[in-house]
Amino acid sequence: MTITPWWRDAVVYQIYPRSWADSDGDGIGDLPGITARLPHLAELGVDAVWLSPFYTSPQHDAGYDVADYRDVDPIFGTLDDFDVLAARAHELGLRIVVDIVPNHSSSEHAWFKAALTSPPGSPERARYVFRDGRGASGAEPPNNWVSMFGGPAWTRVTEPDGTPGQWYLHLFDTSQPDFDWSNPQVHDELEDVLRFWLDRGVDGFRIDVAHGLVKADGLPDTDLGLDAANDATALAPMWDQPGVHDIYRRWRRLVDSYARSGEDADRILCAEAWVLPGEALARYVRSDELHQSFNFEHLMTPWLADDQRAAISRSLAQAASVGAPQTWVLSNHDVVRHASRLGFPQQPGLRRMEGIGADDPQPDAALGLRRARAATTVMLALPGSAYLFQGEELGLPEATGLPDDARQDPTFARTNGVSPGRDGCRVPVPWESDAPSFGFGPGERSWLPQPAEFGDLAVDRQRRVPESTLELYTALLDLRRRHRLGRGELTWLDGYPDEVIAFRTTSADGAVTVLANLGAAPVDLPPGATVIASSAPLRPDGALGTDQTVWLLA
Ligand code: GLC
Repeated sequence: MTITPWWRDAVVYQIYPRSWADSDGDGIGDLPGITARLPHLAELGVDAVWLSPFYTSPQHDAGYDVADYRDVDPIFGTLDDFDVLAARAHELGLRIVVDIVPNHSSSEHAWFKAALTSPPGSPERARYVFRDGRGASGAEPPNNWVSMFGGPAWTRVTEPDGTPGQWYLHLFDTSQPDFDWSNPQVHDELEDVLRFWLDRGVDGFRIDVAHGLVKADGLPDTDLGLDAANDATALAPMWDQPGVHDIYRRWRRLVDSYARSGEDADRILCAEAWVLPGEALARYVRSDELHQSFNFEHLMTPWLADDQRAAISRSLAQAASVGAPQTWVLSNHDVVRHASRLGFPQQPGLRRMEGIGADDPQPDAALGLRRARAATTVMLALPGSAYLFQGEELGLPEATGLPDDARQDPTFARTNGVSPGRDGCRVPVPWESDAPSFGFGPGERSWLPQPAEFGDLAVDRQRRVPESTLELYTALLDLRRRHRLGRGELTWLDGYPDEVIAFRTTSADGAVTVLANLGAAPVDLPPGATVIASSAPLRPDGALGTDQTVWLLA
């Protein structure tokens, strides 16, 4: 009997630790809070949990600025708390994936502090990208790169003797200096960090900014800036350089050496790589590299039937070309929640949305939620693995009314408020509608204020309430598992209007027909079909309404 490794069809639930559950009432979520709430995920029916960073960090980028890769930040708990969490998760049948942040450390990392007190050209500086500035006095940055969070990608340091000195590269915040991956010490260190967490029993890693580690030789100027990752025709010197693949081949050998046995054997690596076109992204998941990479092309695809069909077909073909399963994701901690993103008019063309401010055009909340439920009902029938972001199972919208002084994403400050930043999707999860901070924790307040409408969306208002979003997700995950849809094959179905996404997913354990109506006109279901799941109640005449998806046995 051939064994299908768990990750090929796993549903992975992303927990953003500061916003999921707070055990001590300081308004910031923590590891003991997560452990206590894990039964929610077992009941929901996911296979694995991915934890965003909980490592020691000054929290300038919510933990994606790591000061110590081998310890837990006191705001989240201790290493013992992590061990308890991992043990409880495994007891509940949930695997644990943790984040690894290899492109940059925090400026509070011991290595960077040593670099600042060491002279230009020293081995301490050689672990980061330090360069002399341009111009007679070196007062101009070494090149024209800009930070992903706005402003220049370089910051000038003051040398230990008090003179203005070299510049260091940071593709993100000034507090996130980029490592120099041409230095073997950096390889050894990050591999050792992987081993540290593998030894603690983690089942995999999500690799932050996986496409950024290697920079083009000579760090040339570029006109391709922020959106370079979305540019299909030109390679920006900071993204997707060929050398990254050598790193991941080594990492694959490393995690493979930790294999267990049976279906659970593999510890996995999943890339966060904003790389287009999909053929370039597929290179990350060749059989000797990473197991998965996030399919952001699908995430960015508008809710239009032609675009959706094309993105799904392309995604499946690209993954199949290298023998990898495809992944699907609609929301995460960096993009506008899909219940709000889809509440805007949909136009052709890929678009990544990173925040909505109070003065921006606002999404139609009811429309967004209806479409989000329909889109998820499509996604969970697709072959491959799916990633869910905390709170989407409750239909949480983006919090668009956050006051400026509450916003904490560095993007907001570095763009002088031009970009609202990503806080709106990071607001703490509501568990109990009538409790302080909606049951997020014992305290009255949470680190980002929760909108009043979160109360009606709390877990206790939805659990076992027919037609709630939570019950929809639970039912879809159960059916997906029973029919093994993640291991299935997709066939497009003819005979439906263009505005209908119509396919069948067939596995050894079952088959479902999926119909999603993105058009204005109602669509009749095939005669004799049994509806096993529906993103919304059927119309009184039994037809499929606009922005509605059903799963049928037909
Ligand atoms: C990734 C993370 C994002 C973070 C950035 C810098 O894109 O998902 O949240 O800000 O990397 O580490």
